[in-house]
This record gives sequence, C-alpha cells and structure tokens, in this order.
Amino acid sequence: MKMDIPADLIRFLQRSTRVAALTGAGVSQESGLRTFRDSQDGIWKQYRPEDLASPEAFARDPKLVWDWYAWRREAIKGVRPNPGHHALVEIEKKIPEFTLITQNVDGLHRMAGSAKILELHGNIQRVRCSECGTFTETWGDDTESVPCCESCGGILRPDVVWFGENLPRAELEAAIQAARNCDVFFSIGTSGAVQPAASLAFAAHNKGAVLVEINLDPTPLTPKADFFLHGKSGEILPELVRMVWGTDGGL
Ligand code: APR
Repeated sequence: MKMDIPADLIRFLQRSTRVAALTGAGVSQESGLRTFRDSQDGIWKQYRPEDLASPEAFARDPKLVWDWYAWRREAIKGVRPNPGHHALVEIEKKIPEFTLITQNVDGLHRMAGSAKILELHGNIQRVRCSECGTFTETWGDDTESVPCCESCGGILRPDVVWFGENLPRAELEAAIQAARNCDVFFSIGTSGAVQPAASLAFAAHNKGAVLVEINLDPTPLTPKADFFLHGKSGEILPELVRMVWGTDGGL
C-alpha cells in the first residue's frame, strides 16, 4: 500500500538530528503478536491480563503467573521482527541522536537490531529474583514450581513492570530526557492508555517537538499530533524511510 508521507515532514526529518520514538504493541502486531489488550486464547481466556500482570496476582499464585509468561515466551518463539521494526533500525542509523523507547516486552526491537532501546516495561525474555533483584536469562526446571534464585534462594519473577509497579528509574529518566530534547517525537502503535509512557509525547510537544503519530485508529494524542499517519506501522515506517533517506526501508 502506497502511503503518502507529507512533504514537509520529509523535509523536516531530513534535517533533524534528535528524534525519539515511543512504540507500543501495535508495532509488534504485524509480527503476529496480539496487542496487549487483544483477547487471549486457550486456558488463559478466563483471565484478564490485568489479573495476571500484577504483584498481587503473583503473590496469590506465583506458578499461575510464571506459567502465563512461559506461555507468552512460547508464543513469541516463532515470531520475527516485521518491516516496521527494521525501519526503526534504519532510522537509528540515519539520525545522529535517535532514542527508541518501547512499552513492548517482546524483545523484537532488540532482535531486529536496534541498539539504543529504553525498555520501559521490561523484557519478557529476562527474569529477576524477587528478593535480591539478580537478573538471569536461564533458570532451573519450572514444571512443578517457580524456580528460585541461585544467589539467595528467592523466588524468580519475570523482569516486566506489572500494573501498580514503578517503571525502571534509569530508563524512565532517559526517556523523559529524550522526549524533552528531541526535534521530532514519534508515537507508534500505542493506545496511549498507560502512564507514564503516555505522557512522553505531551512532554515533547510542550518543548516544541514535532509530533508524529502512526496508528490504525485515533488515540487521545491524535488531536495534538502535527502529523497523524493513519495505517499500519509495518507499511508506513518503511515508506517513510524510503521517502526521507531513499534507502529500502530496512525491508
Ligand atoms: N500499526 C499501527 N498501530 C497499530 C497496529 C498496526 N499494525 N495494530 C494495532 N495498532 C494500534 C492500536 O490501534 C492501538 O492504538 O496499537 C495500539 C495498541 O494499543 P494497546 O494494545 O493498548 O498496547 P499499548 O499501547 O502498547 O499498551 C501500553 O499497557 O497494557 C499495558 O504494559 C502494557 O505495554 C502495554 C501498555
């Protein structure tokens, strides 16, 4: 699908040196990953994500929550980055100061080759000890019970931010700085439903950045956006890279 990228946006991006992009589940949707709010299938149908992704849920039934993330890791195993992820890698190569801020925990930006990523909500491929905080990407058998930390014996948990938990401070601070100091802020494939990630675009706008939103549907940010590119990020982003830098959009 040929998407018309506005000429003044193309010209502005050609001379921009500081760009920030916030991505949400919509960017991974074309890789075949359901967005966070899509209904789940199988035994997980009976649960709302909010009833699984919370400290209370983990305290109530750690094995249930651990198994849900194991199921989500399995679901991601066959999934690959899509042209939208690859286009963001291209943009990172072209823009001197590019910061990719993601709410996604699927690890697909990293898999696509993005280098400078701020994972605001953690990464589902990583777990950490709920006691001493030690990170690990390998753990013991989890058939019968949730594995424990080799350092302190504490119970392991997914290294993702749950409802009601604070975001990792360093990542959030860096994201706020990037939003406040950029010339262009992209909000891509996110409903803008969850704070504090949703406020980054407004922080950028308040500092005079050009706001570009890429989404299938309007969101609360749309009225403020200088450009609303209505469509699939996996189609729009490669087209934007082609129109601005003439490269193949990372396809
Ligand atoms: N291209 C562009 N946008 C898309 C596409 C696509 N192919 N597919 C879906 N979208 C848009 C939807 O219109 C919606 O606005 O992506 C957005 C997905 O919204 P959510 O499912 O709410 O995901 P997200 O915004 O990332 O959620 C934010 O909330 O649920 C918590 O921690 C979770 O990181 C998540 C955060």
